[in-house]
Amino acid sequence: MTSNSLKKPSKSLPFDWYYNSRIYNKEIETIFNEEWLYVCHVNTIQSKHYRTLLVDNKNIVVIKNKNNEISVFFNTCMHRGSQIFTEEQGKLYSPVIVCPYHQWSYKSDNGELINTTSIKYNSFDNKKYNLKKVNYYVWKGLIFINFKNNKKFKLKSVFQYYDTAIEKVNLENFVSGHIWKKTVQCNWKIYWENYSECLHCPNIHPELSELVPLYKRRLVDIKDHPEWNVLKENNQSEMYHGGLKKGSETWSYNGSAQGHMMNELKSDLETRGQIFISTWPSMFLGIYGDHIRIVRLISKGPEQMELTVEWLFDENTLKDPKYDKTNVVDFAILVMEQDASISEVNQRGLYNLQNSQGVLMPEEYMIRDFQKYIRSKVK
Ligand code: FES
Ligand SMILES: [Fe+2]
Repeated sequence: MTSNSLKKPSKSLPFDWYYNSRIYNKEIETIFNEEWLYVCHVNTIQSKHYRTLLVDNKNIVVIKNKNNEISVFFNTCMHRGSQIFTEEQGKLYSPVIVCPYHQWSYKSDNGELINTTSIKYNSFDNKKYNLKKVNYYVWKGLIFINFKNNKKFKLKSVFQYYDTAIEKVNLENFVSGHIWKKTVQCNWKIYWENYSECLHCPNIHPELSELVPLYKRRLVDIKDHPEWNVLKENNQSEMYHGGLKKGSETWSYNGSAQGHMMNELKSDLETRGQIFISTWPSMFLGIYGDHIRIVRLISKGPEQMELTVEWLFDENTLKDPKYDKTNVVDFAILVMEQDASISEVNQRGLYNLQNSQGVLMPEEYMIRDFQKYIRSKVK
């Protein structure tokens, strides 16, 4: 009988790794500039619209043309380097991109320079000044970018936690029902670590712990307890079996999927309650009875990060006038606000004891994996 739990205490990361700018710069260089970063679901951009993403000081733009094809460029004009798109998102009024500075124009599909506004040189080669493309990959409707041109998207290495159950849903056809953003005053690793354990669940998330009884035991998985098998045999309660509170179907205040339970995942969700996959440093995704929620995490400095959250639904669910999406949206916002505020509390405690390190307890095996990854990147 194997269990997930750690067998002996191990040191957590040094407290100053959550604000020290040398560590932060190293993380930008070896993590954010090297890994596949999640941008958004394709269906959150309408045709003839764009969306930009700022990661540290790097800025990219994703463009969707009238045929719903995607292209991704660095948001930089090749004349003298101006930013081209100054807004976070917007509409494209023509298939031509125009720099706001001296109005060089580019084709939005492939970034080719169409025209400069200057007197012509005889020897000027337009082809040398096309927009620079960004390496990207669309997996099941999810747009990922990589600042390294030669990196290949490999499912096995991109997701640290992967669940094949996700392959049963047509994620690419899901539509966006809501987007929510929040800036959190903590280092990006604090939020990830908070996501990776449930020791805080009963006191920080009383409502969620009612819905997912296992969380009242401060566990993420029944196998986190060394005696899980015996406990499971001897106890009927969901606290020892996993899954949602009896009669609940999805993560929401009343637990009802309002007649829109995802059939393809019905049996998986009935026994487990929810399905998660995640990729460091930028995204975790949860599948619940009637919807999917994607949380994007982008670092905004050593002591600040930004959450961008997308709720995705089957088209028919949103078309049903009787379906009330606030049932799931408001519940998740409650939980994420709780996590954000305790993450800020965690951050504020780190400064007193610069040279100290905390300790990881048996349930914190996912944090052990995360910190191992961070150490390998920061060295
Ligand atoms: S910098 Fe864009 S046209 Fe000059
Ligand atoms: Fe939490």
